[in-house]
Amino acid sequence: MSTASLITLAGYSREKLEYLIKMAAEFEKHPNRKILEGKVAATLFFEPSTRTRLSFETAANRLGARVIGFADPKITSGTKGEILKDTIMMVSNYADVIIMRHFLEGAALYASEVSPVPIINAGDGANQHPSQTMLDLYTIYQSQGTLDNLNIYLVGDLKYGRTVHSLLAAMRHFNPYFHFIAPDELAMPEPYRKYCDENGIRYVEHKDFNADTIADADILYMTRVQKERFSDLLEYEKVKDEYLLKKEMLTKVRSNMKILHPLPRVNEIEYSIDDTSHAYYFQQARNGLYARQALICDALGITLEDIRNDKTIIL
Ligand code: CP
Repeated sequence: MSTASLITLAGYSREKLEYLIKMAAEFEKHPNRKILEGKVAATLFFEPSTRTRLSFETAANRLGARVIGFADPKITSGTKGEILKDTIMMVSNYADVIIMRHFLEGAALYASEVSPVPIINAGDGANQHPSQTMLDLYTIYQSQGTLDNLNIYLVGDLKYGRTVHSLLAAMRHFNPYFHFIAPDELAMPEPYRKYCDENGIRYVEHKDFNADTIADADILYMTRVQKERFSDLLEYEKVKDEYLLKKEMLTKVRSNMKILHPLPRVNEIEYSIDDTSHAYYFQQARNGLYARQALICDALGITLEDIRNDKTIIL
């Protein structure tokens, strides 16, 4: 087992999160380097992805590592019956770090328990998405100048949304005030509300989604209703269009308010909002590159000091 794996940010201290943000900031200044020359990163994606896989692969490539892997498990020997443990053991023969997305909750933890090389969880079912959270923290800090004492509104699919589950835990050090806006069917699950209670995280729940409800938001974090997580598609049809952010709803918002979305969006944010000063989701996705460069380096034992002293920058 490798102790450098990243499965969840829940156990990370405030200092560690701030340290990773500083690392990401170094990579934003200079994303192109050879600090990982000679290393191989494997991306094993058992579930579809655009941003997470491509930004991890870009992160590794821009740091001089080479990348192997698959974006579709149908082309692997998993279709012949190979179990996850054997796949991980094989890939760890070839790669220095394994970045894995899997449809099963707990799959990344399991992989980390059998793998001799670090595993980075790129999303496990409806459970956690820590690299998304790292880029979310970086983005919130970048857009607000602080992570402390913010009003963070989470909107949409709070039941299955692993990005919001990850964000809750990581924000506990920063005294947030969360507003959970969701229909009953997609409300924040009880274990996460209990987690908030036990960790002194303030929250309030709403069903209404209008200009008044969001007027005090610093961060408005929209999420997609995830069709792929529903066993009953009729249930999906009932809730899929309930929380669409319309431009006319921005009339009362704070000037500093930024709209985030892990993307892909389907029908959660009107396209006309893209040109407003509140839209920040494309910058957020861009930050995924820098945050993931930081996470890969951290998993491989490269420190902030190493990065600051790095002489391999390509201008
Ligand atoms: N935010 C996110 O996880 O996007 P992808 O599913 O495209 O990787």
